[in-house]
Amino acid sequence: MIREALDLVMDNIQIYRMLDAGPVREQLVKSLGGLLLEFGGLVIVLALCMGVFMYFMRQTIIVMSRLIEYDLRKLIFQKFESLSVEFYKRSNTGDLMARISEDVSKVRMYIGPAILYGINLVSLFILAISSMVNVSLELTLYALAPLPFLSISIYYVSSLINKKSTKIQKQLGYLNTIVQEVFSGIRVVKSYTQEAAIGGNFEVQSEDYKQKSMELARVNAFFYPLMLLLVGASTIITVFMGGRMVLEGKISPGNIAEFVIYVNMLTWPVTAIGWVASIIQQAAVSQRRINEILLEEPSIQEIKEPYRAPIQGDISFENVSFVYPDSGIEALKGVDFELKAGQKMAIIGRTGGGKTTIAELLLRNYDVQSGRIRIDGVDIKDFSTQHLRSALGYVPQDSFLFSDTISANVAFGNPDASQKEIEQYCQYAAIHQDILELPEGYDTVVGERGVTLSGGQKQRISIARALIKRPKLVILDDCLSAVDTKTEQSILGFFESEFAGKTTIIITHRIYNLLEFDHILVLDDGRIVESGKHAELLAQGGYYAELFQKQSLEKEAE
Ligand SMILES: Nc1ncnc2c1ncn2[C@@H]1O[C@H](COP(=O)(O)OP(=O)(O)O)[C@@H](O)[C@H]1O
Ligand SMILES: [Mg+2]
Repeated sequence: MIREALDLVMDNIQIYRMLDAGPVREQLVKSLGGLLLEFGGLVIVLALCMGVFMYFMRQTIIVMSRLIEYDLRKLIFQKFESLSVEFYKRSNTGDLMARISEDVSKVRMYIGPAILYGINLVSLFILAISSMVNVSLELTLYALAPLPFLSISIYYVSSLINKKSTKIQKQLGYLNTIVQEVFSGIRVVKSYTQEAAIGGNFEVQSEDYKQKSMELARVNAFFYPLMLLLVGASTIITVFMGGRMVLEGKISPGNIAEFVIYVNMLTWPVTAIGWVASIIQQAAVSQRRINEILLEEPSIQEIKEPYRAPIQGDISFENVSFVYPDSGIEALKGVDFELKAGQKMAIIGRTGGGKTTIAELLLRNYDVQSGRIRIDGVDIKDFSTQHLRSALGYVPQDSFLFSDTISANVAFGNPDASQKEIEQYCQYAAIHQDILELPEGYDTVVGERGVTLSGGQKQRISIARALIKRPKLVILDDCLSAVDTKTEQSILGFFESEFAGKTTIIITHRIYNLLEFDHILVLDDGRIVESGKHAELLAQGGYYAELFQKQSLEKEAE
C-alpha cells in the first residue's frame, strides 16, 4: 500500500513539474489528493484489522496460558496434600513454595507469551521476508544483515538479565527469611538483646541485594539502546543500498519506503527470538522442578481395596520396630501391647523414649518396618488413610492453631458442628471460661493475625478440636503439660464420663491417680521397660514407682 502510494506521488510529481499552472495541473493535484486519501484510509483500516486480530490472538493464547497455570497449580497443590509427613520433614519449605509459585509462573510464560510471540515471529517472518524477496533479493540480504546480531545480543543480554534476576530473587528470599525469623522469634531476640547484631546482618544482606539490583539495572539499561542501534543500522543500510539501486533503476523509491517498514516490523520478533529462547530455557528448568514433585510417590501407599467397616477401637502392636527413615534413629524396638475398645492406656517415660512415635505410627504418618499394627484385628495398612484418620482424634504435642477465630479452629475437627456444640466441647476441654474472657469471645482471631494465647490455652483448644470429631480413638500427646493440676483433673473427668466408651491413649510424664488406667506402659529408649496397672507397677518398684513417689512428694509440697 505504502509503496504504491509513494510511487504514485513520485510519478505524478514529475508530471506536475512538466505542466504549467492551469486547470489541468489543478485537476491533477485534486485527483492525486483524493487517491492518497484513499490510500491513507486503507492503511488505517488495515491497522485496525491488525489490532482486532492481535486482540483475539492474545485473548486465545494468554487466556489459555492462565487456565493452564491454574490447573497446574491446583495439580501441584493436590500432590502436596497427598504427600506424607516424611516428605515434608526432608524438604525445605521455601523451596516447596517456590515450586508452586515462581516455577509455575515461569512455565506459564512459556505456554503463554513465548508461544504467542513464537507464532507471531514465524508468520511475520514468512510474510515480510517473502514480500521483500519478491522486490529484491539483494536489498533483502542487506536489510536483514544486522538482525542476527540483534537476536544473538538480545539472547545474551536476556540470559544475563535472567541470571542476575535469579540471584536477586534468591537474595530477596534470604532477606524474607531473616525478617520472618526475627518476627516469629522476637521475644528471644529482645530478651537476649540481639537487635543490633541481627540488624547488622540484615544491613549486610540488604547491601548485597542492592549491589545485585544495581548490576541488573546496568545490564537492563543496555537492552533498549542496543536494539535501537541495530535497527537503526539496518534502516541506514536499506536507505543507502536501496538508494543506489533506485539510481541504477533496479527498484522504485516506494520499495525503499516499504523496506524500511518491513525492517521495523521485523525488529520486535527478532528481538523476541532471544527473549523467547531464554524463557524456554527457564521454563524447562522449572518444569523439571515441578515434575520432581508430580512424580514424587507418597511414602504411604493406599491399598486398592481398603477395608471399610467402621472402626471400633481395638488396638494391638505386635513386635513393632521402627527406624525414622531420615535420621536412621531406631525409635521403637519390639513394642508389643494390646488395648481393647474402650480401654484407657497411659504411656510414660523419658523424652526421646518413643512415645510420640507410637502416635505417629497409629496415624500412619509412617509405615512400620517390622512387626504389625492392627486396629480391630485388621492391619492398619488395609484401611484407607482417610478412613483410619477420621476415626482418630489426635492432639499433638505442639498444638498448632490456624490464624482464624476460635470457633473456626474448634470446628476444624467437625465443620458441621453448631456453635452450641463448639461451646459444649470447649467446656469439656476446660477452656470455655478462658474464651469468654477474651475481647471477642469465640470470634477472637488467634495466631499471627490475632491474640496470642498461652501454651495451655492452645493445648486445650486443640483438645476441643480433636474431641468434637467424636472419634472412636483418642490420642493425647503430652498435651496437658502446660495445664495446672485442677484443670487437668476436670479434663480427665470428661474422659471418664462423656468419653467413657472411647479407646484413649494418654501420653504424659505426669502420673494421674484420677483415672483408673487399664494399662500403663513405661517406654525407655524405644523399649517397653515396664507395663501393667498402677498397683502392679508400684509393686515392681521401678521407674514408675520412683516417679510416682517423686510426684507425690511434690504434691504434698503444694
Ligand atoms: N521426625 C523424626 N525424624 C527423625 N527422628 C525422629 C523424629 N521424631 C522423633 N525422632 C527420634 O526418635 C526418637 C523417639 O522420639 P519421640 O517418639 O518423639 O520420643 P518422645 O515422644 O518419647 O519424647 C528420638 O530419639 C527422636 O530423636
Ligand atoms: Mg513426644
